[in-house]
Amino acid sequence: MHDVHVGHAAIPAVGFGTYGMSAADIYRVMPAAIDAGYRHIDTAQIYRNEGEIGDCVVDSGIPRNEFFLTTKVWVSNYAERNFEASVDESLRKLKTDYIDLLLLHWPASDVPLAEQIAGLNTVVRAGKVRHIGISNFNRALMTEAVRLSAVPLVTNQFEYHPYLNQSLLIESTREAGLSVTGYCGMAIGRVFSDPRLGEIAARYEKTIAQIVLRWLVQQRGIVALSRTTQIERLEQNLAVFDFELESADMAAIHALATADGRIVDPPGLAPQWDRTEA
Ligand SMILES: NC(=O)c1ccc[n+]([C@@H]2O[C@H](COP(=O)([O-])OP(=O)(O)OC[C@H]3O[C@@H](n4cnc5c(N)ncnc54)[C@H](OP(=O)(O)O)[C@@H]3O)[C@@H](O)[C@H]2O)c1
Repeated sequence: MHDVHVGHAAIPAVGFGTYGMSAADIYRVMPAAIDAGYRHIDTAQIYRNEGEIGDCVVDSGIPRNEFFLTTKVWVSNYAERNFEASVDESLRKLKTDYIDLLLLHWPASDVPLAEQIAGLNTVVRAGKVRHIGISNFNRALMTEAVRLSAVPLVTNQFEYHPYLNQSLLIESTREAGLSVTGYCGMAIGRVFSDPRLGEIAARYEKTIAQIVLRWLVQQRGIVALSRTTQIERLEQNLAVFDFELESADMAAIHALATADGRIVDPPGLAPQWDRTEA
């Protein structure tokens, strides 16, 4: 597995996403995912599956320090009086004494950003969290978050797939010294019926999922999250480090972006997004 390095953090370049996975899904799929070689696991307080993930990590018998566990603080826990207690609860559920990467899940909140960032810094100083970052932050909020944090932020996690041109935000994230963690790489399944991706996949003798994941991790400083509930798909989604896309094919995939490509835009949580024109 390849890592993306940011400061002292080494983040495995493909993480296993767990959004929407029930307890039964986690207990069925996670042991197979760990067997297949996934070590970076992405969850969140709001996914309500940290407990089951913790069980699977412990039951694997693999040393804790070989895993990279990411979770995200939910917006209702941003205030100082709730923040650290919510992280303690995540630690208890994950059955560990540290979290590798802790993110603020969405930016929109009545709690001042300075208070949120102070929460992140406090749990790092307490030894409960190794690295911190943000999710779904636009450029302006990211710049403010970087300015407010004594501990360096290591990632901004946001939607990124062939139909959404995030080049402005990606460039700013790199300039600020953070990695990008892309979610919804499969564009909620849209990629699988795209004949242009199908043609590239056929030429490389790869699946469309592999082509899109490769396109993501071949870009500098990008970590890709991948989720599947189908055990037979676990291995192929990790097998994206033994081939390279030619630059013309990278460009052809970039060219699939459209002005209306955004999928995840929850009112009351999302910021004013940066421009993402085709
Ligand atoms: N920070 C945030 O606000 C935020 C928001 C959204 C997501 N995320 C994170 O990002 C993760 C990834 O995003 P995502 O859940 O949208 O996952 P994704 O990997 O983009 O797409 C998952 C979908 O693709 C299908 N799929 C995966 N591999 C496949 C393959 N090889 N062949 C055919 N179909 C395949 C899956 O179906 P099957 O299950 O049937 O294989 C599933 O429907 C989430 O789980 C979560 O951890 C974060």
